[in-house]
Order: sequence, then C-alpha cells, then structure tokens
Amino acid sequence: MDYLQLKGSQSLSGEIKISGAKNASLPLIAMTILAKNNVKISNLPHVADINTLLKLLSNLGASCEKTNDDMLIDTSKLHETKATYDIVKTMRASILVLGPLLARFGKCEVSLPGGCAIGQRPVDLHLKALEQMGANIEIKSGYIEATASNGLKGCDIIFDKITVTGTANIVMAAALASGVTTITNAAREPEVVQLCEILNESGINIKGIGTAILTIVGTDRKLIDIVGFSVIPDRIEAGTYLCAGAITNSKLTITNTNPSHLGSVLAKLEEMGFSIESTKDTITIHPTSEIKPVRIITQEYPAFPTDMQAQFMALATQANGVSIIEERLFENRFMHVSELQRMGADISLNGHTATINGKSNLSATDVMATDLRASSALILAALVADGTTDVHRIYHLDRGYDSLDKKLQNVGVDIVRLSE
Ligand code: EPZ
Repeated sequence: MDYLQLKGSQSLSGEIKISGAKNASLPLIAMTILAKNNVKISNLPHVADINTLLKLLSNLGASCEKTNDDMLIDTSKLHETKATYDIVKTMRASILVLGPLLARFGKCEVSLPGGCAIGQRPVDLHLKALEQMGANIEIKSGYIEATASNGLKGCDIIFDKITVTGTANIVMAAALASGVTTITNAAREPEVVQLCEILNESGINIKGIGTAILTIVGTDRKLIDIVGFSVIPDRIEAGTYLCAGAITNSKLTITNTNPSHLGSVLAKLEEMGFSIESTKDTITIHPTSEIKPVRIITQEYPAFPTDMQAQFMALATQANGVSIIEERLFENRFMHVSELQRMGADISLNGHTATINGKSNLSATDVMATDLRASSALILAALVADGTTDVHRIYHLDRGYDSLDKKLQNVGVDIVRLSE
C-alpha cells in the first residue's frame, strides 16, 4: 500500500493549478444517463472516485472513452439497471445513478451505500422524494429496488434537510418526469448549480438555479441532447492548498480556480490574519505576522463548508490562541483529531465542538488517514511538523485529490510517494 513521506518546516512558493471538482463531476457523469447523444466532458479530475463511477456506468452498458483530456460518454446502449454492492460500497456517491436510472427506465436496483468514516450518511430523503414522485421503493437484502412503471410524476418536494446529492438526484429524476417538480430547501452548492445549468442549456427548463427553490419542467421520459461542458474547478482542493500556504506562512498562488465559490473560506483566512488577493481565476495568499485563532461553524453553502473543517483544524494548531470549530453536518467528522493530537496538537472535544489551543509545535511521526479530508489535514500538519512524517492509507487522499504529491513538489515541498 502506498504512503506519503514528507519533511516538515517547509515554506512554499509558486503556483498550484486546481483540477476539476470531484463533487461536480460525479452528478454530471450520472446525468449522462439522461442523454440520447454522446456527451463530451472536459476537465474531469484524475481521482479514484471518478474512475469508480465511470466503471459503474460501463458495467451498466455505457461506453466511456478518453480522448486527450476529454471524456466521451455514450449511454445509448445502457442495458443494465443494477448498481451492485461491489462498486457502491467503495463510493457512496454512486447513489447518484438512482434518480436518472429510475427516470429513464422506470426501474432500477441500487445497493444501499452504507455509511462511511464520517457518519451514517442515510439516503432517506432521496427515497422519500422519489416516492412522492410516484416511485415504489423497497429495500431488499441491502438493495434499493425502485420501480415507476408509469414514469415519475412532477410534484412539490420539500427537503427536511439540505442534501447535496439528494438535490442532484431529484433534479435529474425531475428532468425526465412528466410535469413540473419544485424542490424547496434545495442545496445551493456550486456543484449543484453547474448540474442545473448544464441541464438547462440542454433544454430542461429549470428556474431558481442557485437558490433554495428549484422548478424543473420534465420531458416525460424523452431523452435529451446534453451539451458538452467543462467541469468547474474544485473549491475544496483550492481551499486545501490555500491552507497549505497559510500553515507554512508562505506566499502561494492557486490558478484555475473560482474565488466566488470560496467566499466563506477566504473570509476565515483573512480573520486569521492572512491577506488574500484574487483575480477572476486566481487566488494568492500572503504571509501574516501572526496567525490569529478562529471560530468556525460548518453549514451548507454559502456558509463555511464541512469539507474544509479538518484542514482548518490543522491550521488552527498554529494560531496563537484558542480556536473553536463546531461540526454541524456530520456526526463523526473529527477522525483527524486523534492523529493531530499524536503529532502534538492540543485539541479537546466536547460533542460536535473542538477546542484547539495554539500554537503547538507539531512533531513528525507515522500517521494514518481515515477519510478524504482528514488525510489532507494530516498532510498540512506534516508540512510544519519537525522531522519526517509518513502518512499511511493515502488511498483516502487519492479519492479526491488529483496528483497532490506532484502539486506540492512543484511549490517546493519535499514529499515522495512510497510503497510499504
Ligand atoms: C455531499 O455529500 C458531498 N459529497 C460531501 O463531500 C459533503 O461533505 C456533503 O455533500 C456536505 O456538503 C458529494 O457531493 C459526492 P448531504 P452528501 O446529503 O450529498 C444528512 C467530500 O469530502 N442526510 O448534503 O452525501 C446527512 O447525514 C464529501 O468530498 C440525511 O439525513 O451530503 C448529513 O448530515 C464528504 N438524509 C446532511 O444531511 C439523506 O437522505 C448533509 O448530507 C441525505 C442526507
């Protein structure tokens, strides 16, 4: 199994180019199930989760062909409607094929995704909404068996909680339903916005894009001609590298990014003393004379993203003073705390709230990644730890960070990928 070995107390310099967003790519790949044409997708990130979903689509009969840096997906020959456990267990976002498969074929079986390290991750809101649209949903031996023999019917759906993939699933289902669907309490993440924009440009009449109330006029099971598109930049990857610049107190520029997707993250970096310079597609972070402590509450977009919580916890260990981080979305998203404590961080937990007493001098050691964002927090901590840190189980990192070791090497980090 691979691990990353990196030397601490480094300063970074130069530029990092951001890849396409994993969490935009996944629903956009699932969306091709609604297409009658070959769909061309540019700027997909080279990460494991994308490969997993492409493999799932191929298992259903789609063809996914890489041409240069584009992906051509043809689902016209889809003949299977069962997303099996062996794939779904490795990536719970496979649930995103449920809505499109059901809308197109009137039936499908998708393995229940199960939980993951950060929480139980139920999909009850996805299922409840599909039932409201006329689907019959049964859970049999770990599979969601969904049928809608007369097709899905548009209706008014109110999500009890804001759910990102739940919103994406229902938008895609509604695109092929008969009649109009309204989704109230919809997720407003940029990744959901891009899905709606591409469907809208492909002829699906969607109103309220970017707001909490979406209205979708369905085609009554007619497949659509989906326009070619380029995936938006990954705002969480961008935020992670900005934290790398911050924790090493370096001047660092990230390119091919969209600062407007990072408002709450940039505001917190400025609160901690860093100055930020942005253009249309670049962000530069400048060093500060003193890293100030911070208070963070994770909430849905445009508030502070839960996917940046672990990275800011690592950064807060270097602040002079007491930082407070409250995790409001997932019940178990503090898996990085024990590893940071092993490196010398002074963190105490009380329920969903972490108190970080900085500044701690972190010491290098062997650490183990537990989930995607926790592993990036360990990389950040290792950048300022004294000595050489080995970060194990980096398959978690490979799920969502495209060429992280190479990107850090390019800005001066002494990091190598080794096999144990
Ligand atoms: C998406 O997960 C992201 N994944 C997650 O990113 C991200 O952390 C999360 O949104 C929140 O922003 C993808 O987009 C592929 P939710 P998702 O449904 O859609 C509860 C990463 O690191 N809920 O918005 O699964 C749920 O338990 C990953 O890239 C229900 O109760 O998250 C959670 O408490 C990790 N019932 C809250 O809602 C449901 O049916 C938000 O979950 C669905 C969700």
